[in-house]
Amino acid sequence: TSPCYQLKSQLCPRQNPQCHMTGEKTGHYSANACLLPICCLYGAAVTTVEGVGSTETRVHPVQERLAKCHGSQCGFCSPGMVMSIYTLLRNYPEPTPEQMIAALAGNLCRCTGYRPILDACKTFCKVSSSDDRNTGLCPLVANSLPLLVFFLFKVSTSLFSIDEFQPLDPTQELIFPPELMRMAENQPKRTLFFHGERMTWISPVSLDELLDLKAAHPKAPLVVGNTGVGPEMKFRGVFHPVVIAPARIPDLNVVKYTEDGLTLGAACSLSVAKDVLTNAISEFPEEKTKVFCAVLKQLRTLGGEQIRNVASLGGNIISRKSTSDLNPVLAASNCVLSLASRGKKRRIPLSDIFAGVGNNTITPEEILVSVHIPHSRKGEYVCAFRQAPRRENALSITNAGMRVLFEEGTDIIKDLSIFYGGAASTTVCAKQTCSALTGRHWNEQTLDEACRLILKEIAVPGSASGEKVDYKKTLIISFFYRFFLEVLQSLKTTDPYHYPGIPVEYGSVLQDFKTKMPQSIQIYQDIEPDQSPQDPVGRPIMHQSGIKHATGEAVYIDDLPSVDGELFLAVVTSSRAHAKIVSIDTSEALKVPGVFDVISAHDVPATNEFYYSDDPEIVFARNKVICVGQIVCAVVADSDVHAKQAAAKVKIEYEVLEPVILTIEEAIKHNSFFEPKRKLEQGNVDQAFETVDNIIEGEIHIGGQEHFYMETQSVLAVPKGEDKEMDVYVSTQHPAVIQEMVAASLGVPANRIMCHVKRVGGAFGGKLLKSGLLASVAAVAAKKTGRAVRFILSRGDDMLITGGRHPFIGKYKVGFMNDGRIRAVDVNYYINGGCTPDESVLVAAVSLLKMDNAYKIPNLRCWAYACKTNLPSNTAFRGFGFPQSALVTETWITEVADKTGLSPEKIREINMYKENEQTHFKQKLDPQNLIRCWNECMEKSAYYSRKKAANEFNKQNYWKKKGIAIVPLKFPFGLGTRYLSQASALVHIYTDGSVLLTHGGIEMGQGIHTKMIQVASRELNIPMSSIHFCETSTTTVPNACASAGSAGTDVNGMAVKDACQTLLKRLQPIINKNPKGTWNEWIKEAFEQSVSLSATGYFRGYNENMDWEKGEGQPFTYFLFGAACSEVEINCLTGDHKNLRTDIVMDIGCSINPAVDIGQIEGAFVQGIGLYTMEELKYSPEGVLYTRGPDQYKIPAVCDIPEQFSVSLLSSSQNPHAIYASKGIGEAGLFLGCSVFFALRDAVTSVRNERGLKTTFVLNSPLTAEQIRASCADDFTEMVTESWGGVCSSVSG
Ligand SMILES: Cc1cc2nc3c(=O)[nH]c(=O)nc-3n(C[C@H](O)[C@H](O)[C@H](O)COP(=O)(O)OP(=O)(O)OC[C@H]3O[C@@H](n4cnc5c(N)ncnc54)[C@H](O)[C@@H]3O)c2cc1C
Ligand code: FES
Repeated sequence: TSPCYQLKSQLCPRQNPQCHMTGEKTGHYSANACLLPICCLYGAAVTTVEGVGSTETRVHPVQERLAKCHGSQCGFCSPGMVMSIYTLLRNYPEPTPEQMIAALAGNLCRCTGYRPILDACKTFCKVSSSDDRNTGLCPLVANSLPLLVFFLFKVSTSLFSIDEFQPLDPTQELIFPPELMRMAENQPKRTLFFHGERMTWISPVSLDELLDLKAAHPKAPLVVGNTGVGPEMKFRGVFHPVVIAPARIPDLNVVKYTEDGLTLGAACSLSVAKDVLTNAISEFPEEKTKVFCAVLKQLRTLGGEQIRNVASLGGNIISRKSTSDLNPVLAASNCVLSLASRGKKRRIPLSDIFAGVGNNTITPEEILVSVHIPHSRKGEYVCAFRQAPRRENALSITNAGMRVLFEEGTDIIKDLSIFYGGAASTTVCAKQTCSALTGRHWNEQTLDEACRLILKEIAVPGSASGEKVDYKKTLIISFFYRFFLEVLQSLKTTDPYHYPGIPVEYGSVLQDFKTKMPQSIQIYQDIEPDQSPQDPVGRPIMHQSGIKHATGEAVYIDDLPSVDGELFLAVVTSSRAHAKIVSIDTSEALKVPGVFDVISAHDVPATNEFYYSDDPEIVFARNKVICVGQIVCAVVADSDVHAKQAAAKVKIEYEVLEPVILTIEEAIKHNSFFEPKRKLEQGNVDQAFETVDNIIEGEIHIGGQEHFYMETQSVLAVPKGEDKEMDVYVSTQHPAVIQEMVAASLGVPANRIMCHVKRVGGAFGGKLLKSGLLASVAAVAAKKTGRAVRFILSRGDDMLITGGRHPFIGKYKVGFMNDGRIRAVDVNYYINGGCTPDESVLVAAVSLLKMDNAYKIPNLRCWAYACKTNLPSNTAFRGFGFPQSALVTETWITEVADKTGLSPEKIREINMYKENEQTHFKQKLDPQNLIRCWNECMEKSAYYSRKKAANEFNKQNYWKKKGIAIVPLKFPFGLGTRYLSQASALVHIYTDGSVLLTHGGIEMGQGIHTKMIQVASRELNIPMSSIHFCETSTTTVPNACASAGSAGTDVNGMAVKDACQTLLKRLQPIINKNPKGTWNEWIKEAFEQSVSLSATGYFRGYNENMDWEKGEGQPFTYFLFGAACSEVEINCLTGDHKNLRTDIVMDIGCSINPAVDIGQIEGAFVQGIGLYTMEELKYSPEGVLYTRGPDQYKIPAVCDIPEQFSVSLLSSSQNPHAIYASKGIGEAGLFLGCSVFFALRDAVTSVRNERGLKTTFVLNSPLTAEQIRASCADDFTEMVTESWGGVCSSVSG
């Protein structure tokens, strides 16, 4: 199946307490298939999602509940989710919510925002939080619901019914295969050899044998979990001809309690280590377990469960990666390593390795047998810390392990140990600091000196990847300060008389943020009581592919069975941002076994450059390259591996061209823009500036965003062998443009190219033009070779090549009165379009049309410039410019608040559209529902009382602060031009009464097919089960517009309705004649009367237009409205934050499917949290994207969603313009993620107010922990640098 998760069950290694606890003989572990070498599965049983259940056999309760709770949208992540939940349930049939949420920490979903997935999880939990389903809500949310709503409209708070679920019956699970059991019991253990084409895998069973092997192959790595070696071989081209796998050796798996501590074998997995430590902590007196607690703390957030299940303790220690979370704490705690080589054994303290003491290197022949973790002693305190870009499943930016031992009964330091990770290339020790402080009292003077000494001793070198030097330095002393406070507080508990502890307001910083199972509520207006029970419109219907997503049966491009003679394609991309191609040498590549050919611009039969404007979109670079990551040529081979190996051998010589323009600032300097520039103006701006009380001027930088759809760009091009026909299977939002581009590239008419799309594993705007170019690459290769060509981009290549959301700079000048009325705004938006136009000019234009968000600005002038740079070309992304330009608006709104001393919500209210008005391009706007959303959100969130509570909290807490913000939303719906919203559908009724439906829309997770079947079901008055959707194809619906701009359901729904009505009209005489007949009887009769049972439906599109010359028009058809209130808590010492609560109220008209629509709102909102607070793209000074995978680029995970999350759909809202009075909802919710951005800003403001810092300050997006820390300036930041702030390395411009 597509995603790479699976369950590994194996006979329990004796020491796994998990198995002891459950009394099972087998242990079940979730694992990442892509990291698990097949050789290490010897003796294990592997279960993939298909083995858990299927529609052919039995759908497992986990799969059923995930689907029925609406936990799948595009479905690409669903098998992984199923495997994580299923594994947990195999080990713990009634898990706690904490176990459940921990089990999902390593899974990513880009669509759902996790809430519905967690809803499914909760139904299995012991203390079922589905309790909150019964009342519907968590107490806070319940309290704030206005009762009035219940009286006036019937609202529903349930999107699924628990009664429908099959019970979980653990006795029905697959058993461990008896033959493997017998094999394990009967076969003597012997060394295993696996010989591959290029490498040998040796798995010895005794320590002696291992030592002999290591002596014979000193360069061979020991592979246990393969989480260190695997990625190096896979992504960095490291090759090992021999690999030794020591996991079966008993000495390396020991778990032994001794007098003075605990010994763990080096091959123990981190999960085993975690369980053993948890047990030990519960069994030993507290005084002895301080080291155990500190190590356990790090283990809880290290990787995800899938990583911890396989990664070994020894592997983590020995790899000595700078980011190891264990080495600093183990070294500080005096842990001892037992090393062995042939004929020699020795024990060395781990600290010696990092502190440069004695014989401190581990030789290549030596292996680590075990690690001894000592008990803590009386008067000894141990702590571990880490700060990562995401709280869970992310490598640390900086971490630390610290230990102090006092002279008995005093606070005089006898022994101090401080180690840091992430600061330099390996773990480092603040040795001199520690010895200088020995003998000192634990007091403020010591703290001050310690910080200065640490900063002097620990060098934090800058690096090519633009590391966060100042942030790291601040963290290392902030961590020490936190340790200082922890110890002071602990001293107080031992002797309150002598040690006063820490001030009360400092106490909360000792509590780390924890991920809790979120509580959530969704509220929507119920259907009218007289609606027919069969009519599905308005009901929370499950995604039509939900079950198939969860069983892994849903087919994506790479799941398509291979075609006879199929070839695999790998691209060779430019390593220069702007250069002439001097030569391409393919000779070495062509020698790689299995390689068929190398394809380049010369092989394109017709169009290689597509001119949609002055600058072309390019298939293969010809003569010169204009960004790093541009496709220069492609290798086709008999396997994916061979294609990639050969691609790496293509040599390209470049001659660098000037200028290299990467940032917006550089583009402005070189006057490098895509034309036309866009402008809108209303009122008299210059005059207004003369009459206002105040003027502010400022600038905000907003970074780009990677789509990170779970299914990377994928194409399968299959030449049909006659008449130049070709089937093209693509993961795209726009089959018609694929057909057009492929046909143009091959020089054949469009009627020879059949483009097929079953479903797309997430797109978010990223699978439009870019997919067309990639399809052309595959099609040209297929044409040249006459073979089918499969082209699946790796994550790294996808991120490198395809661009994403446009980075923005907004420069504004705002004039306002002392009472908060904004009178004049002059703003310029610069967007980084990258190297080709794509849709950048349109994005810039849309950002102007939507920049007003919810506000009436009487005098307004705005310009938008699409900068042409040498970055990969940026493209459409959910929200299409609005999330950026409206963030600029909300930023100056907040600054006006700061300046006037009024609250931001007051400024928002004062300037909000109030009654029938006109936008800045003279389109009529009725903002009634905007105001309703705002007021309802205020009420539901209990905004004012919570704001007061947050202020109270802030008074009582110095290092932790809360922030709260409420933000309104007006999202105009429309595509600006009539022809872009036309749509067609095709409906066939077969003689057995079943209906085959198709239309031009693409299913990419937004549930369009589900909704279209709902529409057809209502129109034809037949159950949804009689209607089937097969695929979107250019053969059935020609010239379909892209599924984009939230418009899919609106426009295709109209077309489906039209087709169904045509059919019904034809059937009507037959129905009239036999009104009591059944559908099948009518159809049979219609056939016999020669009535056509097939019809097309058509929708001409919305009457939209925009005259840019005049700056006027009706580019939109209607408006969506909403508001979101978010509350956060920040840790001022680290910059970390926790999303506490979000309340969203949205006006989406009459929802066709509330489950789908609420899912869209939540998913978009969480993607917005990613955009505004976490997702950071980084480039080298030469324009190379550093952030090319999930390890460097962090999208929100389960730990990032608000602990309390409520979404209400505004009741009794009608929309005369769209199908069944609904509104298109795909994009709007994303912007509401900025309520978190402004809540963070609010928290930072309260820090700054308290500390008397400047009240005007700039926060850019994403508002990362680094920026938060920098804005909460204190003694520590001051110590680090006088000129803090210039450290951000991202090319946000
Ligand atoms: C997605 C992901 C997330 C991660 N997150 C974190 C994190 O948050 N914090 C963190 O600290 N780490 C993290 N890691 C790193 C991970 O913890 C280490 O890769 C892991 O512990 C290494 O163990 P392994 O068994 O997989 O090593 P392997 O890959 O099997 O081996 C790694 C190296 O260790 C050597 N080795 C292994 N055992 C021995 C031995 N007994 N004697 C001598 N040499 C030995 C091998 O020769 C090899 O060079 C993450 C890794 C991944 C892939
Ligand atoms: S449903 Fe999770 S990634 Fe699409």
